Amino acid sequence: MSNFLEVKNLSVSFPTEDGLVKAVDGLSFSLEKGKTLGIVGESGSGKSVTSLAILGLHKGTRAQVSGEIFVNGVEINSKDESEIRNLRGKEMAMIFQDSLTAMNPFYTIGEQIIEAYQVHNKVSKSEAKKHAITMLDQVGIPEPHKRVDDYPHQFSGGMRQRAMIAMSLSCNPSLLIADEPTTALDVTVQAQILELLAGLQKDFGTAIILITHDLGVVSETADDVLLMYAGKAVEYGTVRDVLQQPQHPYAWGLLTSIPRLNGAPNKKLSAITGTPPSLIDVPKGCAFNPRCSYVEQVGQACSIKTPELTPTSTDTHHLVRCHLESSNRQKIFTEQIRPKL
Ligand SMILES: Nc1ncnc2c1ncn2[C@@H]1O[C@H](COP(=O)(O)OP(=O)(O)O)[C@@H](O)[C@H]1O
Ligand code: SF4
Ligand SMILES: [Mg+2]
Repeated sequence: MSNFLEVKNLSVSFPTEDGLVKAVDGLSFSLEKGKTLGIVGESGSGKSVTSLAILGLHKGTRAQVSGEIFVNGVEINSKDESEIRNLRGKEMAMIFQDSLTAMNPFYTIGEQIIEAYQVHNKVSKSEAKKHAITMLDQVGIPEPHKRVDDYPHQFSGGMRQRAMIAMSLSCNPSLLIADEPTTALDVTVQAQILELLAGLQKDFGTAIILITHDLGVVSETADDVLLMYAGKAVEYGTVRDVLQQPQHPYAWGLLTSIPRLNGAPNKKLSAITGTPPSLIDVPKGCAFNPRCSYVEQVGQACSIKTPELTPTSTDTHHLVRCHLESSNRQKIFTEQIRPKL
């Protein structure tokens, strides 16, 4: 099956008074219809900037974007604003972390879904309203024919997030980008929302990018995982490979710092020692080197040469960006990391 989304060598920088912020640097990944890619990384690693690029939302801003983004074969970066606007909603849509700021407080929930639907569908207002009610029903809003006339502040956080999903899905987009869609919600509601997304994906074959800093969420919902550090992919592969056979020292730090309370649904990443690097003055060589415990096993290269993203073995799509020699990395994984997973 061909990939619905292909991101090739994407870089996004922001010129600022302090210097050039390299938010995303040479990122490549792909996604098929009906599959979920989890993008994971600490705050500031470039996850949201990546999703905005896919939606073409850096157009007309100071952002400098290079590389190619193919959505259903159409290259986004070379298109102008109006052409992309046509694709947004129909081919791709986004769910934001904060539904309150993403919605207009002065319009009812129904009016906002109707507007989103009418952009791409030539239907009467009453037909669009019927569709809005159906969508609200589908995302589990009780009494949707009444709630459709409520304003965003009359909805609870979880309900509002559902309404935003209804809005995003109203034109049945082939690609849905969910940027930390459950971070602001309590654990039970989080689980319900993720279940809802999985159900909709099954019914409509939507490709989903799920951005999160919660590895528990990734392990339950994603097919593939892309781990980002300082704007670069440092590990990329299937959920199984990346979570069960992690190969990058950053992944080791994240995965072994998850509290192992059996079945605890809220397995947040606890911070590993050190802080994320400045994206204006990214550390030379491997950007992770100031925080890495394995530098002495490699020597000079870590602080001189940027490692390439390379397959962990000859017949795999599991990729890692690290200078550790592969048999040594495997040895460290088997002896020190696996027992802690
Ligand atoms: N418009 C902007 N101007 C300057 N810097 C920005 C802008 N947008 C994002 N950045 C910077 O880019 C980096 C990546 O941001 P972001 O993609 O939002 O991170 P996250 O992984 O938390 O979603 C951050 O250092 C952020 O400060
Ligand atoms: S390249 Fe060096 S600094 Fe970077 S993760 Fe590998 S061992 Fe650590
Ligand atoms: Mg973000």
